[in-house]
Amino acid sequence: MIDYKLKQHGRASLDFLASLGPSMANLMKKQTEELNKAGFNESTLEKDIDKRSLQIEKILTKLPAFRSQNLLGEWHSNNHARIATSAFEEIESELIEEFSKLKDGQTSLKLDPSIKIPKYWKYPIHRTTGGWDGHKHMGFIHGELIHRKIVGKALTPAGGTAYNDINSDRLKFASEAPRRDYNTILEIGCSSGPYTSKLSEVFPKSRILACDLSASQLVHAQHNGNALGHSWELFQADGRFTGLEESSVDLFTSYIILHELPVDIIVDILNEGFRVLRSGGELFFGDVAPYSSMDKLSSWRTDYLARYGGEPYWRGSATMDMIGEMKKIGFKDIKYYGMKPKNYPWVTFGRKP
Ligand SMILES: C[S@@+](CC[C@H](N)C(=O)[O-])C[C@H]1O[C@@H](n2cnc3c(N)ncnc32)[C@H](O)[C@@H]1O
Repeated sequence: MIDYKLKQHGRASLDFLASLGPSMANLMKKQTEELNKAGFNESTLEKDIDKRSLQIEKILTKLPAFRSQNLLGEWHSNNHARIATSAFEEIESELIEEFSKLKDGQTSLKLDPSIKIPKYWKYPIHRTTGGWDGHKHMGFIHGELIHRKIVGKALTPAGGTAYNDINSDRLKFASEAPRRDYNTILEIGCSSGPYTSKLSEVFPKSRILACDLSASQLVHAQHNGNALGHSWELFQADGRFTGLEESSVDLFTSYIILHELPVDIIVDILNEGFRVLRSGGELFFGDVAPYSSMDKLSSWRTDYLARYGGEPYWRGSATMDMIGEMKKIGFKDIKYYGMKPKNYPWVTFGRKP
């Protein structure tokens, strides 16, 4: 990937943000203990998620561990993009030089200045000001600094190595696809290309096309593709309207995009997948687990963090009837399951007859 070194101030600020993750885990443990003490369990918690939220949050509001988590979470949500942007700006001039070298290479990029950007996408996702295109270099800021240096580090257990490469889950997921002989792969919502690069590792002989709505994510995906020596064909498009020919793709895939889409958009993308797939082609999406696979407390917690963390579409995607929608469209051999050990990523698979 791109070679860069943060300044001491930027590095320390990002490390501080990453260190808040594990401290939240301790606060959540205290909350669970409090709820257990109050007699909440699978049989006493409400089935309806809104009623359950009221039931749980009424107890937790009084608990310092819950109030502290909210305060830290609020501060993190409001400040992570600003801090990452300032870490970027400290090294901007060196990076711009590096970026200009990485425009040349075998990865191509077609931007579409007339693209129609849907309203749902303009939401400041993850509470990032301006959302996916909030900064000219948001592709780098999000992919490298927020995703890899804050989220990846926060998820690495103390002294452990599980997430030293946050992209190892993407590799595990790409390797779960049933075949190795796809001629043409289309990835939807590629962002700056972390999953695209794992697709290249697992399917080195395939032609790889990847689209996204965000110009700044795609520009950085091109840098990454060239830095790694890949020949990706990147293009700016809505995954609902890829403009590709009918029956021209063998694998229609995505990684962690579903929970960022309203349900009607997901259904449109599934339909587009069915249209562009060849007969026998496969749809293969990886995302977060549906609430139905979790116990009531865990699904409440996931929903709570999504609600306050700038993820307005998470609940819809985690509670939709994915299998029913895929059947209606015409997919066969549908599979909907969580990968071991923790149901992550959650696999949505179907074959076009
Ligand atoms: C969480 S990111 C997923 C990134 C990437 N696949 C990865 O492995 O990290 C979601 C991406 O989906 C893109 N996106 C959202 N709606 C889209 C749509 N309708 N068509 C194409 N891309 C979309 C966003 O711009 C964003 O870059």
